[in-house]
Parts: sequence; structure tokens; C-alpha cells
Amino acid sequence: MSSIHPSSFSPTGARRALRRGLLSLSLLAAGALGCSAQAADMATLGQQVAKGSDCLSCHAVDHKVVGPAFDAVAARYAGKPGAKQMLMDAVKNGHVGTWGKIPMPPHPQLSQKQLDEVITWVLSLKSAKAAEPKPAAAKTYSYDVAGKTVHLDFPVFEHGSNGKVTKAVFRGYELWNSYCFRCHGVDATGSEYAPDLRKSVLNGMSSQRMTSIAMTGIKAKGMPSWAGFFDPGQLQDIYQYVAARAYKLVAEGTPAQ
Ligand code: HEC
Ligand code: HEC
Repeated sequence: MSSIHPSSFSPTGARRALRRGLLSLSLLAAGALGCSAQAADMATLGQQVAKGSDCLSCHAVDHKVVGPAFDAVAARYAGKPGAKQMLMDAVKNGHVGTWGKIPMPPHPQLSQKQLDEVITWVLSLKSAKAAEPKPAAAKTYSYDVAGKTVHLDFPVFEHGSNGKVTKAVFRGYELWNSYCFRCHGVDATGSEYAPDLRKSVLNGMSSQRMTSIAMTGIKAKGMPSWAGFFDPGQLQDIYQYVAARAYKLVAEGTPAQ
């Protein structure tokens, strides 16, 4: 623990290297099928580029995550002259300001071919809005802790389970104590290296906000970017665990499962 220097920790390096290897293999395989790559094939390749890179940590096809929904990007730019090159440059060099204040990091490791493929895929997407089911009315879960009632928009315990936590909270506990504990403290208790995230939650940090910070990182302050390492669902699990700790619903140690 004491040998860890916060700013020298990079979670993504090894996995990126591995993925690059896999990616170039799959591109070779695709190339061997023939060189008459049609737009549809390009889009399929583009989807693979997105999966092999870090895009899906911050983007989903049909809803905003950290960055805009890809179908919203398509709706805004598809068919506009020059849009493809402009978006390829935005992904390569990084971008901020069109969709909000959160920056997209640069992707210098992607080749022009990969950028072309991934943007061709993004621009080919049709809006999924019409097909989307209406969101169910937000459900709340209430728990009594030390005479106070806590209201959350996710369950901490399995229904009628006698204090056993949900799978999501348990996964959050495991992920936390594999990756976040080094700086933010075992079982979310805080440490000298980084803020106590229980306090951040009690001060109103939402799951969406925690995901944005964790995927973007705060490099100058030693908070790594987890883009390409986690998907947004895993960050949500971590959030639920930290919130359960913040509201004292779950004690230190392994939660009952
Ligand atoms: C750490 C989070 C993050 C990652 C990783 C990420 N993006 Fe983004 N992306 C964003 C944000 C935030 C924006 C909005 C930027 C803005 O407002 O200009 C964005 C915007 C975009 C846009 C629209 C740009 C514009 O000018 O309108 C495209 C296209 C895009 N991203 C594609 C990708 C692709 C492809 C990848 C993977 C190679 C990727 N992004 C990875 C966060 C991310
Ligand atoms: C290598 C050390 C390190 C690791 C590992 C780390 N963080 Fe951080 N984190 C930091 C530091 C340092 C800050 C404070 C940055 C600042 O001062 O702005 C921070 C800040 C944050 C914040 C903002 C808190 C606030 O109230 O503004 C969030 C959210 C966060 N980290 C989430 C995570 C999550 C989730 C994980 C595990 C996936 C994680 N961090 C792993 C070092 C780390």
C-alpha cells in the first residue's frame, strides 16, 4: 500500500496492449475476406474498433453516458459535407464544447483507417428513440438507519433476503477493493491519497457524475481515467456500493450475499 504513488498508476496500459493485438488480428482476418469492403462491412469493422478501444466506456448507441449517444451524433451530422473528417479529427485529437463541458480525451493510437471505420459506423446509426420503451416511473427504495429513513433509486438488499445485498452492490464491493481502494481506502473508508467518496455521495454526487469523473480522470491530480477498463454498468455497481457505505447500510468487510 505505502509504495503506491498515486500519479504513476495506469490501469489501462496492459489491457490496451492486449486489445491492440486482438484488434489487428481481427482486421487481418477481415482483410482476407476480400478487398471489396462495402459500407456495411465498414460499419461492422467500425463497431469492432469501438469495442476494442475505450469508446463504450463513455458512449452508448442510444443514450448519453459521459459523451453523447452515438445515434444523436448521427442525427446531428450524417450526410453533412465534411462531417466525417471533422469527427475523425475530434476523436483523434480530443474534443470539448459541442455537447457540454466534459472533454473527450485524444486517441492518438487509432490509425486513419480505424478512425474512418468507427466514424462510418457511428454515422450509419439510426435513432433508436422511437423504438425505446417508455421509462418506468422511477422506483424508490427506503431503508431505516439509526432512526432515519434513507431513500435511494436502487435497492441495496435483495427483497426479503434478511440483509443480503444485491448482486450489483456485491460486485461494486469487489471492484472497489480491487481497483479504487489503493487511493480511496479499503471499503471506501478514505485515505491520505484521495477523497473519501462516501462524503462525495452524501454531498450529492450522482451515479452519472461519478461515472463521468472516473471515465475522464483528473490526471493532473493523480486520479486515473478508467475509460477502456470499465463499462458504465460497472461504475454504477461501484457507485451503489459506495452509497450503501455512505448511508451506513453496509458495514466494512465483506457484505452478506
Ligand atoms: C472518457 C470518455 C470518452 C471516451 C473514452 C470517448 N469519448 Fe467520444 N466524447 C466524449 C465526450 C465528453 C464528448 C463530447 C465532446 C464535446 O462536447 O465536444 C464526446 C464526443 C464524441 C463525438 C462527437 C464529436 C463532435 O465534434 O460532435 C464522437 C463522434 C465521439 N465522441 C466518438 C468517440 C469514439 C469513436 C471513441 C472511441 C475511439 C470515443 N468517442 C471515446 C467522451 C468520450
Ligand atoms: C491512483 C490513485 C487513485 C485510484 C486508484 C482511484 N482514484 Fe479516484 N481520485 C484520486 C485522486 C487523487 C482524486 C482527487 C482529485 C482532485 O483532487 O481533484 C480522486 C477523485 C475521485 C473522484 C472525485 C471525488 C469528488 O468528490 O470530487 C471520484 C468520483 C473518483 N476519484 C472515483 C474513483 C473510482 C470509482 C475509482 C476506482 C475505479 C478510483 N477513483 C480510483 C485518485 C485515485
